[in-house]
Amino acid sequence: MSITKESWGETKAGEAVDLYTLENANGVRAKIATYGGIVTELYMPDKDGNMADVVCGHKTLAEYEAGHPYFGSLIGRYGNRIGKGKFTLEGKEYTLAANNGENHLHGGDVGFDKKVWKAEAVESDNSVGVKLTYVSVDGEEGYPGRLTSTVVYELTRDNELKIDYKATTDEATVLNLTHHGYFNLGGHDSGDILDHVMTIAADRYTPVDEGLIPTGEIAPVAGTVMDFTKPTAIGARIKDVAGGGYDHNYVLNNQDGSMALAARVSESETGRVMEVYTTEPGMQFYTGNFLDGSNKGKGAVYNKHAAFCLETQHYPDSPNRPEFPPVVLRPGETYTHTTVYRFSVE
Ligand code: GLA
Repeated sequence: MSITKESWGETKAGEAVDLYTLENANGVRAKIATYGGIVTELYMPDKDGNMADVVCGHKTLAEYEAGHPYFGSLIGRYGNRIGKGKFTLEGKEYTLAANNGENHLHGGDVGFDKKVWKAEAVESDNSVGVKLTYVSVDGEEGYPGRLTSTVVYELTRDNELKIDYKATTDEATVLNLTHHGYFNLGGHDSGDILDHVMTIAADRYTPVDEGLIPTGEIAPVAGTVMDFTKPTAIGARIKDVAGGGYDHNYVLNNQDGSMALAARVSESETGRVMEVYTTEPGMQFYTGNFLDGSNKGKGAVYNKHAAFCLETQHYPDSPNRPEFPPVVLRPGETYTHTTVYRFSVE
């Protein structure tokens, strides 16, 4: 297994950015940029041993800086939406950027996906990795408290991409860190993901309003287009989903904070399988509904449904929903979240 580091140039603001390459003995390779903690490439074998890059993204830092829909990025401070960009914590109201209609999305105007993280290589018997650290100052993007986040990406011997998140604060705050990989198990340039077969370990989901803010209801998936409790093609009922496809938070059956299977996805032509394990109580299933061909990445044109995202998380708008699992972090506490994307073939 190996870890290599190369310079990836500078941001427009003049910050140096590095690109780490993790490789295991199976020839599986992940490239991770210190800008946004972006997984820019992820090569996985198919059933015949042929490698393909299974994540959407760009070739250069300049393309990422020019704007992209969170391809492969780390998301913070708050993954997904906060209604009207407002919440009250310990009696004080906070106002965040309204960067998605009237709502706040993925941390605001300059979220963690656009920050340059400090990096160091990490290695264990079982894995090669990179540990990323970012200190978000008090008041950044409107959030209270100085928040120190570390994210360790590891590529294991068993073709897993493991992500370990930790964070501490010096003042009460809210957070919801996640990873926004856009996966296509046929290869990032292979067309749409409608034939991928999806299983999600969730009997319930959080219905949303037109602005994609949860209504507060926790609804059963049974008998609806949301039901992926049994293996089902992503495209089987997608035409009946309001808003052009899935963009919903699933209430995972496992709610106790231990690692549990959240989803399994397979693609029959290549035989590639991806399983997602997480400690989080929720997962956003997003089918690239906003991709419109304008994102030309790594030589491919990404049209609608060119990829799917499985963003392990707390539920959207939790700061305004005391009935949802809590997202408040206080001084002296440590936020933890582990997610594993495990690849295999069948
Ligand atoms: C998340 C959101 C989507 C969309 C994508 C990025 O999945 O829920 O609505 O914003 O990120 O385009």
